[in-house]
Amino acid sequence: MKGIILAGGSGSRLYPMTKIYSKQLTIIYDKPLIYYPLSVLMLGGIKDILIISNEETIPQYKKLFGTGNELGLNIQYALQAAPNGIAEAFILGESFIGNDSVTLILGDNIFYGYLDFLYNAIKTESPGATIFGYQVNDPERYGIVEFNEKGEAISIEEKPKVPKSNFAVPGLYVYDNRVIEISKNLKPSARGELEITDVNKVYLNEKQLRVEKIGRGVAWLDTGTPEALLQASNFFGVIEERQGLKIACIEEIAYKMDFINKEQFAKVISGIPKSMYREYLERIYATE
Ligand code: DAU
Repeated sequence: MKGIILAGGSGSRLYPMTKIYSKQLTIIYDKPLIYYPLSVLMLGGIKDILIISNEETIPQYKKLFGTGNELGLNIQYALQAAPNGIAEAFILGESFIGNDSVTLILGDNIFYGYLDFLYNAIKTESPGATIFGYQVNDPERYGIVEFNEKGEAISIEEKPKVPKSNFAVPGLYVYDNRVIEISKNLKPSARGELEITDVNKVYLNEKQLRVEKIGRGVAWLDTGTPEALLQASNFFGVIEERQGLKIACIEEIAYKMDFINKEQFAKVISGIPKSMYREYLERIYATE
């Protein structure tokens, strides 16, 4: 299983926050937003990760993560010249994906809670596609999936004016290798983008789409407005303070997932400037 983080786009809706740096680098409590989706892929056991972004931002991601080698990861980078749509990720990522399956996560999507169902979907390489449905109260802003009385998905629409349900499709998608071919055959939508919803429609029409409903115990947080970013920061601040544990701490995850051994973990820590973050990792090193 390969992983892709799509982290480009202009972020114009968050101007001026995004005037000089990208949305996925805005800070959620104590770390850049992109750490949260990256940690989901890592916890799903994925080590080969492609970060797709624009020309200005790729150097910044490289500064943050490098080759990923220090954390036992293989991180590569690909340029998306313009925001031509989420499904373009599979065309740009074709050689990186090779013959494998692929999980795509949007670089501005935050998941929190008991996420084993997500990790299992990533780890189970079955033919077809797996996406999720999450209940929201502003469905016109998302891809929306409709279910019949048996709980089977029967339609998917992108940002419908009159939504057929309240189940939004979050930005985490697990596909078999056919997604590359499917994406190459898409036509741009009315807004000029290769739509991820159109990819999902192909799988749905072929009865190859699994849609798992996510229960209320999981938080899928919005990052689309300044208020939502503040709420997300407060949310993680409250939990980290209460537990004394960090969320989306990629160094800790690399160690706990056995991507690196204790010696390598010590080396990673020694490269971090004296900070609360380093003290936290030293505590993890000493106790686990
Ligand atoms: O967040 C989930 C939603 O994401 C889904 O429910 C929708 O079906 C899906 O279309 C998408 O909707 P958004 O309106 O949120 O997509 P947006 O254009 O904001 O892009 C999502 C992220 O992906 C954003 O951080 C920018 C990045 N992106 C987007 C496009 C279109 C790229 O890097 N390149 C792109 O070409």
